[in-house]
Amino acid sequence: MKIGITGATGQLGRIVVDKLKETVATENIVALVRSTQKASDLGVEVREADYEKPETLEAALKGVDTLLLISGSELGKRAIQHQNVIDAAKKAGVKWIVYTSLLHADATSLSIGEEHVATESALKKSGITFTILRNGWYTENYAGTIPGAIAGGAYLGSAGDGKVSAASRKDYAEAAVRVLTTDGHQGKVYELAGDEAFTLTDLAAEISKQTGKNVPYKNLPADEYATILTNLGLPEGLAGAIADIDVSISKGDLFDDSKQLSKLIGRQTTSIHEVVNEAVKQPA
Ligand SMILES: NC(=O)c1ccc[n+]([C@@H]2O[C@H](COP(=O)([O-])OP(=O)(O)OC[C@H]3O[C@@H](n4cnc5c(N)ncnc54)[C@H](OP(=O)(O)O)[C@@H]3O)[C@@H](O)[C@H]2O)c1
Repeated sequence: MKIGITGATGQLGRIVVDKLKETVATENIVALVRSTQKASDLGVEVREADYEKPETLEAALKGVDTLLLISGSELGKRAIQHQNVIDAAKKAGVKWIVYTSLLHADATSLSIGEEHVATESALKKSGITFTILRNGWYTENYAGTIPGAIAGGAYLGSAGDGKVSAASRKDYAEAAVRVLTTDGHQGKVYELAGDEAFTLTDLAAEISKQTGKNVPYKNLPADEYATILTNLGLPEGLAGAIADIDVSISKGDLFDDSKQLSKLIGRQTTSIHEVVNEAVKQPA
């Protein structure tokens, strides 16, 4: 039974491959990547599979029984790219597709939700057995912002009192491996999120506690926050997108308390205490 993983050279994909190797024979794991050069250290069979190049996809999926389709990173192109993969999977005779979607994709105000909804619906239409892993936000999205907040003396954002149920890539990767390697997940849609929801005020308080410095949360109107991010060097589009995500967070779009993720992985998800602890240990 061969398991293929797309996006295997990405940050989530690499952890999935590593974890999968602990339970599945390496000859039954196939890394499906757009750049084979980047994949030489994965330690499993590598095949070229570019979402933009349908001609690579059918050949890459030959003999693959189960496919983990990790959503791509090129915003605006992904609905078509994922459709290309699903079409090729159908032609190649893939029996089961597990897809990494977005938390509450069908109800979210996040604009990135549209492409995930399109892919979920393409999967349902394909007739291939599927499982949907609606992944919440990564704690790593916050880890990277902590040094800047400490240096600037405040944690900035536009998320108001919105709570985020974030979890680490490792948590989501373990869930994907659990689903791929155990029975009873076909046809299911999982809402995967961290056990411990936090507001940005909570995050700032944890940073203050662990550093002994006063780092309050400063809530800003989205346009003001986007301007600050642009002034810090972020491209305008990205700065606007980050501010918009915060506005969605303020509406509760990245909150979930169903604990489906910790149930799947059989342990607590990564806590905000651990995230801050790791970040403050890094040299400035
Ligand atoms: N939950 C969250 O907080 C969150 C945040 C950001 C993104 N996401 C979603 O989760 C996905 C996985 O997260 P991640 O951290 O692993 O992201 P990542 O490190 O950016 O990895 C994205 C992967 O997609 C691959 N990819 C992009 N375009 C492709 C194409 N045309 N054909 C084939 N492969 C392509 C990339 O290939 P290369 O290795 O060649 O670049 C990479 O392996 C992201 O792609 C995105 O859809 C979730």
